[in-house]
Amino acid sequence: MENITVPLDREVVDEIMGLGGTILGTSRQDPYVHGNGLASISETMRTHHIEQVVVIGGEGTLASALRLSQEGLPVIGVPKTIDNDIAATDVTFGFHTAVQIATDAIDRLTTTAESHDRVILVEVMGRHAGWIAAYAGLASGADAILVPEVTFDVAELARLLKRRQARGKNYSIVVVAEGAPLPAGLERPVTQRDAYGFERLGGIANVLAPAIEELSGFETRVTVLGHVQRGGTPTAYDRILATRFGVAAADLAVAGEAGVMVALRGDAIVPVPLEEACARVRLLDPEIYEVAQTFFG
Ligand code: F6P
Repeated sequence: MENITVPLDREVVDEIMGLGGTILGTSRQDPYVHGNGLASISETMRTHHIEQVVVIGGEGTLASALRLSQEGLPVIGVPKTIDNDIAATDVTFGFHTAVQIATDAIDRLTTTAESHDRVILVEVMGRHAGWIAAYAGLASGADAILVPEVTFDVAELARLLKRRQARGKNYSIVVVAEGAPLPAGLERPVTQRDAYGFERLGGIANVLAPAIEELSGFETRVTVLGHVQRGGTPTAYDRILATRFGVAAADLAVAGEAGVMVALRGDAIVPVPLEEACARVRLLDPEIYEVAQTFFG
């Protein structure tokens, strides 16, 4: 095979620095489900004279990258998901942008909740981990935050909202992560599954709202932020993190490294084994949740 080294195209990177999304496109397609795994990818690489693959994504994507790597494909992973739930890195890129979008939305919703004496239930993404809910809720002073890691009771939540009322606060903001556990008696809407077997989430707030309204006596409205959180202009933090990850991944590729993911540890970008990144889901730090709880009610 012809030996081609692709230098980092600074001009292209300059031009996309402020853009969200991807210029390559993306899919929920698993190479082992929708193709012949390593065989299909190797053929594409041969055709296009590609020697190494940089895989950018979250849990499912990195799991496929690990499997391909174990089968001999030279792979470097880059942790990209708004969910911030990848192990072995302190932060994934996309997370801080989603938090900013959700925080801005909650700030706006607080105005209308207060004007109309309502409870507004704001549903954010977060399948297994409540990072977005906790960060955006904390940043906007939410009155309760429901995350996948912590079970809750609707009656207790309603009491908390009424205690606020007793203090003259006739409105509340409750942030709920899409993957929060539903209390007994309430059922998650039935949804489809994607190629990785992940349930298509969204809509938990609509199930919870009537129960909150009944038990608290407050008119309870729902806003599901959905894919709004995954679009638009990235924050400066995410631009810098993504660029640092990208440069590190390119350097590792040129050095012939493989089977690793670039990670942020403290202030440093370091390679970590893909196995470590895929070993577990990185759940919300309980300390962050405790700080947010200080402002509940
Ligand atoms: O990237 C992870 C995530 O944002 C989850 O929080 C969410 O459940 C999922 O993606 C939605 O993915 P899709 O748009 O493919 O349904």
